[in-house]
Amino acid sequence: MATEATTSDAGSTRSLREEVERRRTFAIISHPDAGKTTLTEKLLLFGGAVREAGAVRARRAEKHATSDWLELEKQRGISVSSSVMHFDHDGFRVNILDTPGHKDFSEDTYRTLTAADSAVMLIDAAKGVENQTRKLFEVCRMRGIPIFTFVNKMDRFGRDPLELMGEIEEVLGIDAVPVNWPVGEGKDFRGVYDRLNEKLILFSGGNHGRDLLDEDIVEGGLGSDAFAKALGDQAEPLAESLELLDGAGAEFSLDRVSKGELTPMFFGSALTNFGVSPFLDRFLEMAPCPPARESDRGPIDPASDAFSGFVFKIQANMDRDHRDRVAFVRVCSGRFSKGNTTRHVRSKKPIRMANSTLLMGRDRAEMAEAFAGDVIGLFDPGVFGIGDTLCDEGDFNFPGIPSFSPECFVRVEVAAVKKRKSLEKGIDQLVQEGAVQLFREPGGGSATLILGAVGQLQFDVFRHRLQGEYGVEPGLTPLDYRLARWPQGEFDEDIFRFSERVRIFEDRDRRPVLLAKSEWDLKRIEEKHPELKLAETADPSRLTSAS
Ligand code: G4P
Repeated sequence: MATEATTSDAGSTRSLREEVERRRTFAIISHPDAGKTTLTEKLLLFGGAVREAGAVRARRAEKHATSDWLELEKQRGISVSSSVMHFDHDGFRVNILDTPGHKDFSEDTYRTLTAADSAVMLIDAAKGVENQTRKLFEVCRMRGIPIFTFVNKMDRFGRDPLELMGEIEEVLGIDAVPVNWPVGEGKDFRGVYDRLNEKLILFSGGNHGRDLLDEDIVEGGLGSDAFAKALGDQAEPLAESLELLDGAGAEFSLDRVSKGELTPMFFGSALTNFGVSPFLDRFLEMAPCPPARESDRGPIDPASDAFSGFVFKIQANMDRDHRDRVAFVRVCSGRFSKGNTTRHVRSKKPIRMANSTLLMGRDRAEMAEAFAGDVIGLFDPGVFGIGDTLCDEGDFNFPGIPSFSPECFVRVEVAAVKKRKSLEKGIDQLVQEGAVQLFREPGGGSATLILGAVGQLQFDVFRHRLQGEYGVEPGLTPLDYRLARWPQGEFDEDIFRFSERVRIFEDRDRRPVLLAKSEWDLKRIEEKHPELKLAETADPSRLTSAS
């Protein structure tokens, strides 16, 4: 048990456990354009991490204009990397793990979710549950982390809130309980009714910052004169909706929220800053602090003295002049102190954590101290792989990070035979970093190398880096496979002998994997061979954290 006192940034003295308990580490999941950048920015404003609205967007734009750290990023005008942002608010240390919001998202987006303790699902009120949100939600569900829903853009006409609630329940298979409920929408959007405290929070159209004005809060409850006066014609429809909710909706239960079975729902408008502050306050109350993480030696207490963490992402070329690589490490226990030495379990080598950086967007700052829930960036001399564990004591391994099913595949070729060695070296390194997944013919034959990725963007990054770092111009021929599945347990490989549409390969760790041209092809195989158990990730059991 940890009793050691720590002195943190604000100069106050906290125990390790207090440091853990005040941390909230989460990711925002959404489909592009739902308003993730806007919401993130508003959250950072409350925490004082940025001073003006528009700063995140402006900084992104400015970076695109001036930075050439990754030429590709500039060419495509998108953010390839995920970043980590933090701020302090009401005594909490809030870590937001940003996931790229572009439609070309990559496996990094999934991996980042393995470092989060909860997720905020952002939904555009006019569009409902969109494709990318659904995929990211599935990863959160596999991990069983709590998911909070923020329905955004209520200042515009959207879909009926009851219908949205029904869609979340039906499409995602999770109960939804509104914590607040919108009054009107679009130009008639008046505010939200706080169901837990039975008060109205009115939207007066101004810039709703951290503090709401007294006149924006109406107490007294439904049926009171104060409500009737504030709402006029809208009092009755609100009362009807709430009656429906009370009668038909699921019961709120924090226990079910923590198991990921029930999502608390909030309504608001990130752009006009409305509903963001009530959301943040409730979210911080309800969201979990870093839990004990499962390891192959049992659960690891986040407040234990010994430092531990795992690598969930490797980002290369953050500084083009230095061709460097940074490993993003999620701290799981103990205290990280700059200059300390820990162990890299896979290589059994000591690692001095000298050059740690705190990553704030793409700006770097030296980081002196970090606790469970925080993310540190360690310069990677080429030893780290995705999922690697670092720990001071015990040589245990965290479950690692599974390979998610790619959706695009290419065959890789290189014209010049003499470049073959460089190609293999490059592939080895980039696969270890998790830039792409590698598949081969069964039996170790290296003649056919197939690469898989969640989005096309990963292949662009791969090609760019092979050219820049290894001097190889690879030929990438698109293949018409669309998904990968990992068979579990024993199975008969002859099933696939004559199939052109589902073929068996080996992944990087020599596990058998099926590449299929469509869901339909897989379904047919599964119907014919019900004994065959197929997993969407290489090792789904590796996803969970100890409860
Ligand atoms: P993303 O990161 O999820 O891709 O979304 P982003 O925040 O960039 O927002 C996408 C668009 O939606 C932006 O408009 C943004 O201003 C708008 N938006 C975000 N939140 C709200 C909201 O609560 N209400 C309304 N009405 N709009 C919202 P844009 O025109 O694409 O960009 P910009 O010109 O505003 O920068």
